[in-house]
Amino acid sequence: MADKQAELEVGGETYDFPTIQGSVGPDVIDIRKLYGTTGRFTYDPGYKSTASCESALTYIDGDEGVLLHRGYPIGQLAEQSSFMEVSYLLLNGELPSKDELDEFSHTITYHTMIHDQMRQFYQGFRRDAHPMAIMCGVVGALSAFYHDSTDISDPEQRKIASHRLIAKMPTIAAWAYKYSVGQPFLYPNNSLSYTGNFLRMTFGVPAEDYEVVPAVEKAMDRIFILHADHEQNASTSTVRLAGSSGANPFACISAGIACLWGPAHGGANEAALNMLREIGTPDRIPHYIERAKDKNDPFRLMGFGHRVYKNYDPRATVMQKTVREVFDALNVSDPVFETALRLEEMALQDDYFVEKKLFPNVDFYSGVILSAIGFPTTMFTALFALARTVGWVAQWNEMISDPDQVIGRPRQLYTGPTARDYVPIGQR
Ligand code: ACO
Repeated sequence: MADKQAELEVGGETYDFPTIQGSVGPDVIDIRKLYGTTGRFTYDPGYKSTASCESALTYIDGDEGVLLHRGYPIGQLAEQSSFMEVSYLLLNGELPSKDELDEFSHTITYHTMIHDQMRQFYQGFRRDAHPMAIMCGVVGALSAFYHDSTDISDPEQRKIASHRLIAKMPTIAAWAYKYSVGQPFLYPNNSLSYTGNFLRMTFGVPAEDYEVVPAVEKAMDRIFILHADHEQNASTSTVRLAGSSGANPFACISAGIACLWGPAHGGANEAALNMLREIGTPDRIPHYIERAKDKNDPFRLMGFGHRVYKNYDPRATVMQKTVREVFDALNVSDPVFETALRLEEMALQDDYFVEKKLFPNVDFYSGVILSAIGFPTTMFTALFALARTVGWVAQWNEMISDPDQVIGRPRQLYTGPTARDYVPIGQR
């Protein structure tokens, strides 16, 4: 809804721009005509003040620590829902009826196998390849195997591609793990849930029956819910930007996986656990806090701080609780959890972290849980990619369905040399 005007005075002239109101959250100033009317661009590296699109999927209030999917608070979804139900919600806008959920789960279950020729792709990677390197390659390669779902102008093909991506991701991620440990790949088992199936394909072996531990299945499902979508973060924006050129969905999701891999984004859960293990014991925490505060030291507390949350990340609250549930279910403990709790407590009493509003984010505790379940650190970001795939495809679908969608093409502030004549090599 456009109503109020924003005034901009530049070069002695005043220009009016409409402001647009969303359903909740700050108004935006619509500057689409800025260049045409003023001959100026805006300058906003990192998009700290820029809304790149309109979206009805996910809402975050970073100051209040609120995260809503289609209006539903993440805490309620994590406690009461399932990853399949949240996936349906993100894709379709409403919670499903029982029949709708059964049908959706059935469809996803029956898309979990990957083309058998793709098994050979894995052999091309070194055994010590990072699972995210394998995920980028194998997911991108899906476009070479599923030609019948790459026409993005056909809603039915987009739907099939979305289902395929969500369904095949656990198989692809589990096989990346199996390949790294030299164990045979397990095919999906349709009698199991989405999450149970993933656990079996990851930790099962053909010689033995694999028993899915219900508490672990529930914890894993909850971790998937917590990672399902997070509005216009770096990897989602990457998927949208790649998709804006008309690229096929498999290529777009592969681009998202590549972006997610970075330690400032999805790679932070791996980095956070490595950091906690390096700290080792609570008595060493003050040293690391001092390092994090030192401007001359590149070290940061991994799993701390967030571009949008300037309050406790609501996902971190659920994660902290889930650590205890998994420890109880598996009858294990890990001193790293005590270190994490103590580090959080000490950092939140320190002026540096208080003033900069740096709180634990979703990655701070997720590594502790995943490690207790048995995942090596290199798999952490792969699990994030698996769960975020539903958010990526929902955002991609939303963008492609928008009749006003155009190719994403930022402008720049050019600071290089002005025009000059070419000098032949002998005269330089
Ligand atoms: N440890 C120490 N200092 C920090 C940290 C941290 N984890 N995070 C931010 N700061 C400081 C910065 O040094 C900076 O200080 P300055 O103003 O004195 O220069 C200030 O806080 C603001 O930091 P920015 O990097 O400008 O904040 P931005 O919003 O761009 O970055 C980010 C957010 C990348 C998440 C950052 O907090 C960070 O690097 N955290 C560690 C990595 C991490 O946990 N990433 C996971 C994010 S959640 C996710 O992707 C699922």
